[in-house]
Amino acid sequence: MPSTQTLLLVFAGTVASAAAAVDLSWRPPSASAVSNLTQVLNGPGVPTIFNSSKTSFKDYGIYNYCNMPHVRAREYPFANDTYELKYVEIIHRHHKRTPYQSNTFPVENIAWQCSDTKTFYYADKKSGDEIATPSYWVMYTDPANPLNTTGYIGSNCQFPQITADGLEDALEHGRDLFKVYGDKLDFLRDDSVKNEVIFRVTSNVITSQVAGAIIQGMFPDAETVPLYQQPSAVDSLQPQYSCSYADNIRSAYQGTNANWTAHLNATVNLFAKLDAISGVNPKDSGWHSWFDHYFDALSSRKCHGKPLPCSITNSSNCITEADAQEVFRLGLYEYSYIFRDAPNSLEYVRTKYGLFFVELVSHIRAAIAKSSPIKYRHNVAHDGSISPLLGFLQVDQMVWPGMGAEVAFELFKNKKTNGYVVRVLWGGKVLRSSNLGPIDMIPADDFIGYVEGLTGVNGSYIVQKCVSS
Ligand SMILES: *[C@@H]1O[C@H](CO)[C@@H](O)[C@H](O)[C@H]1NC(C)=O
Ligand SMILES: *[C@@H]1O[C@H](CO)[C@@H](O)[C@H](O)[C@H]1NC(C)=O
Ligand SMILES: *[C@@H]1O[C@H](CO)[C@@H](O)[C@H](O)[C@H]1NC(C)=O
Ligand SMILES: *[C@@H]1O[C@H](CO)[C@@H](O)[C@H](O)[C@H]1NC(C)=O
Ligand SMILES: *[C@@H]1O[C@H](CO)[C@@H](O)[C@H](O)[C@H]1NC(C)=O
Ligand SMILES: *[C@@H]1O[C@H](CO)[C@@H](O)[C@H](O)[C@H]1NC(C)=O
Ligand SMILES: *[C@@H]1O[C@H](CO)[C@@H](O)[C@H](O)[C@H]1NC(C)=O
Ligand SMILES: *[C@@H]1O[C@H](CO)[C@@H](O)[C@H](O)[C@H]1NC(C)=O
Repeated sequence: MPSTQTLLLVFAGTVASAAAAVDLSWRPPSASAVSNLTQVLNGPGVPTIFNSSKTSFKDYGIYNYCNMPHVRAREYPFANDTYELKYVEIIHRHHKRTPYQSNTFPVENIAWQCSDTKTFYYADKKSGDEIATPSYWVMYTDPANPLNTTGYIGSNCQFPQITADGLEDALEHGRDLFKVYGDKLDFLRDDSVKNEVIFRVTSNVITSQVAGAIIQGMFPDAETVPLYQQPSAVDSLQPQYSCSYADNIRSAYQGTNANWTAHLNATVNLFAKLDAISGVNPKDSGWHSWFDHYFDALSSRKCHGKPLPCSITNSSNCITEADAQEVFRLGLYEYSYIFRDAPNSLEYVRTKYGLFFVELVSHIRAAIAKSSPIKYRHNVAHDGSISPLLGFLQVDQMVWPGMGAEVAFELFKNKKTNGYVVRVLWGGKVLRSSNLGPIDMIPADDFIGYVEGLTGVNGSYIVQKCVSS
């Protein structure tokens, strides 16, 4: 019998030679209107939905920023009998919400009402008699508080907060998932939630707000369900672990890089108009180093059927539909640039988001080794999670992942060969990667080889770059 050391060497050698054969290069996304600055600046329109959670039956699957497509029975590509589903891991952005506080205007001419929702946050003893009464947050401003006039007049939300409409979308999302993985495939059962399923959230409360409605949609009989959360310092889902190596790479291709500033220089008139109406300080770099803040301020309104803003001092000076659509095109352009088009984006995302993939690979390995009872993991996350994830997979066409944007990783066993294969669904359809091609029943070893090539075995590359240097 060989010694332990020999076995380890053999193992390491296998991994190294497998990794050497893998193509880890950055491959640019396909040319599209999203990343063509001429088309972004000149329009017209946006080839997508920004004003409603509803996508027509006929169009389901197209980009809808307010409620992105997800796995549903009608569109799901059912695998044939050769394949047996063994493990599923879902990750999606939370559902629609108010804007972030930092993305609201100094003074707003509309109110956001959250009095139609209850956000629960309380602690209880886990064993023995429960000692806490379920209690929830109510946001309000006290007229006696002299600082009460900033932000939204008469609003009662904690920005950001998932709206009642966003909760409805999450409920439907959960129901749709269970119809496929439960009703149709019988992979999940009503009681799977007890010991075969893990729900995970970030430390940002909006992911927990969404998880409750997702779980109700999937497992309506469940009483209390744990939401797993990692300590912020090491959290791989949001992500929150610090990596100045990654941040510096992104700064170098964003910031003052001419490839980045080209679209900002071309839109000074648009910025000036938006600033004049919103009251945002034209010197505020958070608002002017990218379109992110205006995008969130305007898309949140549109997704909730609220009017576009008019000037507080001149109600006939308004942001027009055409202005908003230009902002939306610019937002998608920026996400495509940051996470896919910039050649160094792959080096950024492999270190920024690699730890999520390290964990994913460990889950796939455990499913293959049958060493874990968990067969379904569900992660509720952010656009800041889905974007680097799509960059890591080198999605063929990048967009700004809208509300509810979902990626599903599926592990199947081929019953004829006993081999394992991986499929990745993005918005419910097979994800097309510029590097890996369609990730549709590719050998699990190839998928793992690609991931580990980028992260190092057990994330060693990320540790080296983010911690050691
Ligand atoms: C960008 O779009 C313009 C206008 O449609 C077109 O003329 C140009 O060829 C496109 N550029 C690329 C690189 O596709
Ligand atoms: C959303 O926008 C589209 C295209 O601009 C328009 O046809 C549709 O009526 C709008 N829907 C709502 C609910 O405002
Ligand atoms: C099952 O699907 C795979 C991949 O799509 C295909 O190669 C195979 O021929 C199919 N098998 C049967 C029995 O239809
Ligand atoms: C602040 O208080 C005043 C009364 O003192 C009230 O009129 C106003 O609506 C309050 N502002 C907000 C944002 O609630
Ligand atoms: C700008 O983009 C081009 C094409 O991707 C790239 O070759 C070039 O190095 C970039 N310039 C800078 C300063 O990053
Ligand atoms: C954009 O404007 C800034 C400031 O004037 C300038 O430094 C930069 O070179 C410009 N970028 C491009 C692509 O023209
Ligand atoms: C108000 O805005 C409209 C539209 O931009 C403009 O035509 C009008 O002159 C403005 N009124 C004042 C008093 O500034
Ligand atoms: C990676 O981690 C697994 C599980 O902790 C361990 O069994 C394995 O030896 C590690 N591999 C390397 C090369 O460190």
